[in-house]
Amino acid sequence: MTKYVIRGGKPLYGTVDISGAKNAALAILPAALLVDGVCRIENVPQISDVSLILNILQELGADVRTVNRTTVDIDCSHVRNCQVSDALARKIRASYYFIGALLSRFGSAEVALPGGCDFGGRPIDLHIKGFTAMGAQVDVKSGLVQAKCPNGKMMGSTIYLDIASVGATMNIMLAATLAEGSTVIENAAKEPHIVDLANFLNSMGASIMGAGTDVIKIKGVDKLTGGIYSIIPDQIEAGTYMAAVTATGGELLVKNVIPKHLECITAKLIEMGAEVEERDDSVIVRRSGELCRTNVKTLPYPGFPTDMQPQVAACLCLADGTSVLTEGVWDNRYRYVDEFRRMGAHIQVDGKVAVIEGVPHLSGAAVEACDLRAGAALIIAGLAAQGITEISQIQHIERGYENIVQKLTGIGADIRVVVTPDEGAAAQAG
Ligand code: EPZ
Repeated sequence: MTKYVIRGGKPLYGTVDISGAKNAALAILPAALLVDGVCRIENVPQISDVSLILNILQELGADVRTVNRTTVDIDCSHVRNCQVSDALARKIRASYYFIGALLSRFGSAEVALPGGCDFGGRPIDLHIKGFTAMGAQVDVKSGLVQAKCPNGKMMGSTIYLDIASVGATMNIMLAATLAEGSTVIENAAKEPHIVDLANFLNSMGASIMGAGTDVIKIKGVDKLTGGIYSIIPDQIEAGTYMAAVTATGGELLVKNVIPKHLECITAKLIEMGAEVEERDDSVIVRRSGELCRTNVKTLPYPGFPTDMQPQVAACLCLADGTSVLTEGVWDNRYRYVDEFRRMGAHIQVDGKVAVIEGVPHLSGAAVEACDLRAGAALIIAGLAAQGITEISQIQHIERGYENIVQKLTGIGADIRVVVTPDEGAAAQAG
């Protein structure tokens, strides 16, 4: 078993470079299916979810070439296969973008139901509502989503999203890009990665307006040509390092960011006692004084991001006073709380609300990552705790954080990767 072993209690100092945005890359890479030619995509994060998406593209017949550590050339012009296997699709949530992309390109798609972090239900009814409105016949059975347009082409339509769903917004955008006629998405999500997907598609010849607002208009075009596109920096990776130095104290220069995308995170960290200096493409974050309590409610962008909820909880565990954290997006995103309690945190959860009573310090413990952002939060708690913290199930963390151990070591963290014989295997061998 591979673990992270952290000796906590050290403030963080130095510079950290932010990678490309995971949740933009996971939509932009499947979008290459719409391009008739080679698209060069830069600033691609080196994370396991991206490797999975590239494997699915290759399984479909795309030609994927690595140009350098963060740049890939993808040529889908010879792809004819519309089926994504269960083996790969169910490993991540973002595999559902292949439904929208394949429907747009071929008018047909067969993709296994997606997997992803477990926050209670993760339905795709709004995605299906959009595809159906655009003329596709969609059946979900035996763990498969089978979608087909009777006349072979998606037709433009107007779709109102009951919830401002990130995935549904991006998936309908993909399906509409090569459709016949125009599509309007109302109550669209506005996250930075949605704007990034629209910018990528437009750079390849699409006609999409209004991304970043709650009404997006997509005029279907006949084809997209190739081009070059660079993915935006990861808002949540940046926020995670900002929360880390807020919890441990110290000073970090966080480089390759878009400060505007961090405003909601910056505002909350300042309330908690951090100082944040914004520059063109970086922020300096320092905390030397008291860590103060505050209340946080997660909401769709531009609200405080749900993907920063566990990380900010780690900070609030050490704040002076009692804080109230409300999860406004997912039904059950507090599965990490028991692990924090092992470290001495005082948290009470009732439905979507967590009441966090700050404690003078956390103590290192053996804990388990249950999902991507919970794992990142446990790292933050371990960095701030007194003593040794061992984090297992780190594969969750490596889905979304490029070189996290190297980046943390570079800013003074005492964190190591330790491989131990698997207890089960050892028992069997014994
Ligand atoms: C994306 O998930 C992100 N994942 C999530 O980040 C993020 O938490 C979420 O957006 C919200 O920002 C990727 O981009 C790969 P939603 P997604 O559709 O698209 C409900 C991370 O840590 N809903 O915006 O699945 C849903 O249940 C991950 O990087 C429906 O009811 O989220 C939820 O309550 C974790 N029906 C709400 O909408 C649907 O058809 C928001 O979900 C779709 C969603």
